[in-house]
Amino acid sequence: MAKQQNFDKHARFEGESYQDVLDRDSRDVPEALRAERAPYLGSDSVPASHYTSQARFDLEEEHMWSRVWQMACREDELSNVGDFLIYDIIDKSVLILRSEPDRLQAYYNTCLHRGRKLATIPGNKTELRCPFHGFTWELNGNFKSCPTPWDYQHLTAEKLKLPELKIDTWGGFVFINFNKDAPPLAEVVGPLESHFKNWFLEERYTHYHVSKVIPCNWKVAAEAFMESQHAPTTHPQIKTHITDVNSQYDVFSDYVTRQISAGAEPSPLVNRSEISEQKIVDDMMVRRYKMYDDVDELPEGLSARRYVAQCARESMNRVNGFDYETYSDAELVDSILYNLFPNFSVWGGIKPTRVYRWRPNGRDVDSCIMEIYQLNIGNTDQPKPPPAATHVLSDKERWSDAEELGGLGAIADQDMGNLPYVQEGLKATGNNEVQFANYQDMRIRQHHIMIQRFIDEGLEKKVS
Ligand code: FES
Ligand SMILES: [Fe+2]
Repeated sequence: MAKQQNFDKHARFEGESYQDVLDRDSRDVPEALRAERAPYLGSDSVPASHYTSQARFDLEEEHMWSRVWQMACREDELSNVGDFLIYDIIDKSVLILRSEPDRLQAYYNTCLHRGRKLATIPGNKTELRCPFHGFTWELNGNFKSCPTPWDYQHLTAEKLKLPELKIDTWGGFVFINFNKDAPPLAEVVGPLESHFKNWFLEERYTHYHVSKVIPCNWKVAAEAFMESQHAPTTHPQIKTHITDVNSQYDVFSDYVTRQISAGAEPSPLVNRSEISEQKIVDDMMVRRYKMYDDVDELPEGLSARRYVAQCARESMNRVNGFDYETYSDAELVDSILYNLFPNFSVWGGIKPTRVYRWRPNGRDVDSCIMEIYQLNIGNTDQPKPPPAATHVLSDKERWSDAEELGGLGAIADQDMGNLPYVQEGLKATGNNEVQFANYQDMRIRQHHIMIQRFIDEGLEKKVS
């Protein structure tokens, strides 16, 4: 291969940066959006087999999924004492319940008698009774009774206490961890705490929750949402109103990464002189944010970005009474995606918040479950609405068949136009290598660095 000329591991897009866009904001921009952290994470490739091999999948299961904090549900899915649901990851099943008004507990979803799952559908119970032979537990995990106690005198109360997992909450999400020695969730969440302090995650309600099996490895799906360099090719219609190749990428900690693309700003790849500010407004509001129905002609002297942000402030205020006036244009219109390692992504800003979660689909290395939530701020005068039920799409249905997704459905379907073929392409590889950009794929690099770290630490522990 020819020697690379002027190789710059810190190279960036040369035109306007996201921070330059922020300089034009009509309000003060929060520190979180001014923060930048772009370490050089190397230029190594990753083996294609990391996405396709069962052996690699098994290593991830044994050493990573068993030791990471995983978002299991929203806390308001378990509002009342006795409410429970089931969170599955690979072969593991976890029963999560509210055992007291202020106490959530997570149990291995396995009867301590002969192993039936304690529950398979969510609900509300006053006790946990196994449907097989009727062994019964209190909500706090203490053994209560069985139909023939005279035959189980060899089992102590201690032996019959339901084993628990670590459980904690952040931002209205419930997280579980199989590793009893895991660091506290707050430590792992780290920078998210201060970044989200004015974005009211905890108070939001689930406006929709849609789930779909995707025929690709869970990392292929997750990583399609960790960069926006694919946007001009895969989603060419958004070029007029969302930036792409000048998106900002950050790695704030081992676990927390972020990307931001400015909204109501055209991609640097389009000829600005060919795109009017009115066109930016029309495309942004009509196509992308169908929720704002009161967009008129752009008033004289106002940029598209400022106008879209102001329309968003006013129309969202009319819906829920929340005061958006002090929030920056950026917090209302930009695509601000945070990831918490390994499989949870939450949008920042004050607009409706999208959340993504990706999990392996059972033991299948070639498929995964992707979920999209939208969390809204409810009406300030009314009690928080109950969370929307999960809408599970069949294999034949597209994201756009979930009407609640609005314009996002068609965008997600464009992503689905790649993902199965990424998985097939990875299997057909001739060199077993996947290449990453130094900057734009920085978050993906960090993702792989962390997976490898968990595997290496786990293997080391096994040997010692
Ligand atoms: S397996 Fe649960 S009571 Fe027997
Ligand atoms: Fe995409």
